[in-house]
Amino acid sequence: MKKAVISPSLLCADLSRARDEVLAVAQAGADRLHLDIMDGHFVPNLSFGPALVAALRPVVRLPFDAHLMVSDPAAWIAPFLKAGVDSVTIHVEATDSNGLITALSRIREQGAEAGVALNPSSTAQVLEPILGFVDRILIMTVEPGFGGQGFLPEQLPKIRAIREMIDQRGLRTKLTVDGGITPETGLLACESGVDELVAGTAIFRHGPQGYGDAIERLARCGRGFSMDED
Ligand code: DX5
Ligand code: ZN
Repeated sequence: MKKAVISPSLLCADLSRARDEVLAVAQAGADRLHLDIMDGHFVPNLSFGPALVAALRPVVRLPFDAHLMVSDPAAWIAPFLKAGVDSVTIHVEATDSNGLITALSRIREQGAEAGVALNPSSTAQVLEPILGFVDRILIMTVEPGFGGQGFLPEQLPKIRAIREMIDQRGLRTKLTVDGGITPETGLLACESGVDELVAGTAIFRHGPQGYGDAIERLARCGRGFSMDED
């Protein structure tokens, strides 16, 4: 019975005011900050790199999550850890399972959380050999590359299957959903077993005055959370 963990996606913020935006979501009750790193190759878009992340690191105490949408994740782990991120998530589609295990182990050795992300076309089975090496599983509910897309409801059975895999093995792996999250789709995701919601548009389309309400509405999607509980 708890609120969902909310990670605003910086990609959808007003980047001309990145510092103020990060401060504003922190003050509005965000739990973490989601950083979408795109290389123009793994996905058809470019975003930002370690220099911006390092510049924002001292601004707030929120944990920073790097979501690496890059073709060569192994090359980018060290630069983002150096920039001060607390977790690094790499895509299962970017490398084979041995490469994934090596990269995930390297992230953990540096004291950070290791995550894997699954594109909509990847199945839950891909997680079998790597489950013991991950702290977070991030399910994409849009094709990665851009904010502002519509949620893909056909991903919900996969979320349920992965929740079952985690629970059956008695693991404490966090389950996160990313893409097209609103209070409505966030509720569907949480009912399917998600603990954490990444949200870009649903938060940043409001002005900074509205971030608190937007974050609170998303947090109330949490499993078993009800209005009676506060
Ligand atoms: C998409 C990114 C998402 C995205 C979220 O590739 O991974 O984090 O920015 O934005 P919304 O919430 O607008 O889908
Ligand atoms: Zn993301």
